[in-house]
Amino acid sequence: TPRTPLIAGNWKMNLDHLQAVAFVQKLHWTLKDAKHEDGSVEVAVFPPFTDLRTVQTLLDADKIPFALGAQDISTHDSGAYTGEVSGAFLAKLDNRYVIIGHSERREYHHEGDEIVAAKVQAALKHGLVPVICVGESADDLEKFGASAVPVGQLKAALEGVKADADIVVAYEPVWAIGSGQAATPEQAQDVCAKLRDVIAEKLGEDAAARTRVLYGGSVKAANIASFMREPDVDGALVGGASLVVDEFAAIIRYQK
Ligand code: G3H
Repeated sequence: TPRTPLIAGNWKMNLDHLQAVAFVQKLHWTLKDAKHEDGSVEVAVFPPFTDLRTVQTLLDADKIPFALGAQDISTHDSGAYTGEVSGAFLAKLDNRYVIIGHSERREYHHEGDEIVAAKVQAALKHGLVPVICVGESADDLEKFGASAVPVGQLKAALEGVKADADIVVAYEPVWAIGSGQAATPEQAQDVCAKLRDVIAEKLGEDAAARTRVLYGGSVKAANIASFMREPDVDGALVGGASLVVDEFAAIIRYQK
């Protein structure tokens, strides 16, 4: 595959800015000579907003080759939106990525397809790469099968996105998140291939060939290689295991 694999660590609401420094330094040292250093695997970390400034400074000062991403973005650029964080601010802190539409935001913050689409537009407007998360709940799986809901969510999120836009898609079955019950590689491949078809339909074949589609949901060192062997899985969005230095380092060092 011509697509550079992306291993993304979503810290969720874990690690304050001081813990973040210790964590990133330790991860960097653990990974010395790993393949992310030669660019064959891209590593990205997604700390809480309050950590971004400190982590950016550290990555820059120690020339640590991790990309930085935020976990959310405002649909607005600036103004009277208490508690919101603008994509303009994220871009100034060298964020390359922003997670949009994570199932935890869809569920706990009632973010629907329209808000997700608006956040995708906000990210692109500010030069950030949206990591668009889609996935079915256990209920959806029973009622509609695995792919219908994520396919619908992705179609909605890509509304108005241009063919040359730089995006990442993450397939995260809700039932697999934090449950220890990962999808099988075959299940992940099947849905990721269907999501790639959506990209082809909405943005064209070039975009479909170029865009990374990640799997997320109970990814760990012991199962990463089985996902990475699948042709349409281009990396992983890792939650819990991204908070354990040795485990996340082992995921980054996966061997096909
Ligand atoms: O964004 C990450 C996902 O929600 C996966 O979380 O690896 O803890 O299952 P998990």
